[in-house]
Amino acid sequence: MPEFQRFSYDVLVIGAGGAGLRAAIEAGACGAKVGVVCKSLLGKAHTVMAEGGIAAALANVDDRDNWRVHFADTMRGGQYLNNWRMAELHAKEAPECVRELEAWGALFDRTKDGRILQRNFGGHKYPRLAHVGDRTGLEMIRTLQDHGIYTGMEVHMECTVLSLLLDSGRVVGACGYDREKGLFQLWQAKAVVLATGGIGRAYKITSNSWEYTGDGLALAYNAGAELQEMEFVQFHPTGMVWPISVRGILVTEGVRGEGGVLRNSEGRRFMFDEIPDLYKDSTADNEEEGWRYTQGDRNARRPPELLTRDHVARCINREVKAGRGTPHGGVFLDIAWIKQHLPKAEERIKRKLPSMYHQFKQLADLDITKEPMEVGPTTHYMMGGIRVHGDSQMSSVPGLFAAGEAAAGLHGANRLGGNSLSDLVVFGRRAGRFAAEFAKKNEANGAATKVDEEQLQATAKAALRPFDNGASGENPYQIQYDLQEAMQDLVGIVRTESEMQQALEKIAQLQARADRVGITGHRQYNNGWHTAIDLASLLVVSEAITRAALLRKESRGAQFREDFPNKDTEWGKQNIVVKRGADGEMLVEKRAIPPMPEELKAVIDEMK
Ligand code: FUM
Repeated sequence: MPEFQRFSYDVLVIGAGGAGLRAAIEAGACGAKVGVVCKSLLGKAHTVMAEGGIAAALANVDDRDNWRVHFADTMRGGQYLNNWRMAELHAKEAPECVRELEAWGALFDRTKDGRILQRNFGGHKYPRLAHVGDRTGLEMIRTLQDHGIYTGMEVHMECTVLSLLLDSGRVVGACGYDREKGLFQLWQAKAVVLATGGIGRAYKITSNSWEYTGDGLALAYNAGAELQEMEFVQFHPTGMVWPISVRGILVTEGVRGEGGVLRNSEGRRFMFDEIPDLYKDSTADNEEEGWRYTQGDRNARRPPELLTRDHVARCINREVKAGRGTPHGGVFLDIAWIKQHLPKAEERIKRKLPSMYHQFKQLADLDITKEPMEVGPTTHYMMGGIRVHGDSQMSSVPGLFAAGEAAAGLHGANRLGGNSLSDLVVFGRRAGRFAAEFAKKNEANGAATKVDEEQLQATAKAALRPFDNGASGENPYQIQYDLQEAMQDLVGIVRTESEMQQALEKIAQLQARADRVGITGHRQYNNGWHTAIDLASLLVVSEAITRAALLRKESRGAQFREDFPNKDTEWGKQNIVVKRGADGEMLVEKRAIPPMPEELKAVIDEMK
């Protein structure tokens, strides 16, 4: 019988990126005893990959900005599938959350008169991204980590969570194992916040590192929670395309925000070719106007490189497929060209984009102040996730909360760049507060939380099964690789019914192989074992993405269906919800979006 090391908390936070840390800080501030479990070392989180900034209508660079414009931009970017309440709260609360980060020590770049500087980003009407060069996410993590440790949360690093524990339908903790020693752990809690980030590792080309295997989504789904918007996977338009070993690593949208342009192998700025009707009013149709906008001309319109990510990624895909790509299969992203307009441009590039400068210099031996970069789409972010209540962030399972990328709703069909960092702090804070309240209320009610010892033993036994299969079992790395290839090729940027049906068949075959997965060696730092464990989550999220994408018979935001290339008005009123059926089968259904209150409708009309 495997032994479990036991811990007990009021609030357990799973995940220690921006959302998890912010939730932990808030729950602690509300008086809860907080435990944080993270898969990796503290401070290593995908949050750092939001490089270019945090979106908040501070109106420091353009005084026309306010929460109403930010709300309308977010809804338009999400093609109106967003949870409008979350979009409203996000736009209203983001400025305060940025100021809070500053008060805790985040050192944002400044305007000449000493306020927080803001830059342009795709889909945002005004310069709205508060930033720290191109290391904003890193600065945020550093700040939240310092503040969180100072407030006394307990951190369990390098632990994989295997299962959430339920008592009479309510979540009462989680169990897993520590990756270093391979020992089982039980974290009992009165409320749990899932902040585990995304699913990028379901795809071959991704900006996500090894941790992002959709664990939180699968844990929630297995515990009976609903998922939503799973068809919307964001392919960031600009990842590195070479050297092959670093393919997918992010090239921040900040490069385009600072004036970088996209060109094909013919040297043409192809983004001018086709500007969607939805953005015609706000997008420049000539180079000069786009450049004037970048330089802060209030009357000019945004350059087309700052259209939303879904659109830019598809245009890049189109250029490459048409044979107008770069030698390594991307397009050119040129920031060096600003030298034609600006004195001291080289110094400016190095100052504004230091990480990009060093990234390309070190990894590709390329000086971006002199030559263009080669870039292409990379799987970056999951709009879908756990369906939550807009105000409290509680899922359909009592006591189970979710925040950040693991939660769905705010971004609808497509997220605007920079809205992820603000999402993390706005909804991390809310999740932490409401989880602490839930814990307190249930404690006051005298509700005992009982752990099902049988469930614990069954979970441990299942986790150890790959050792029983040993060397004769299926290779976990090969299964993961085959899944990534199938998702990349069959459920990628451009989708069709027949390819997605093939993907479903492959996922079923891979599931059967995963049931026979085998590994050798011992439990200490056994990467084969960790990979075998990750397969279960990857398979759940891959199936959910595929089934939801099949059901949505239209193209909208991040989902482009070649067989249904247009938007459909009726589909524009529906979210897709994924849940586990009584027999363990995956159910996918439409759910009507609740009507938006008149005052929010008026904001959208006004902004049009
Ligand atoms: O391009 C970027 O810096 C990414 C930002 C984001 O995903 O929000």
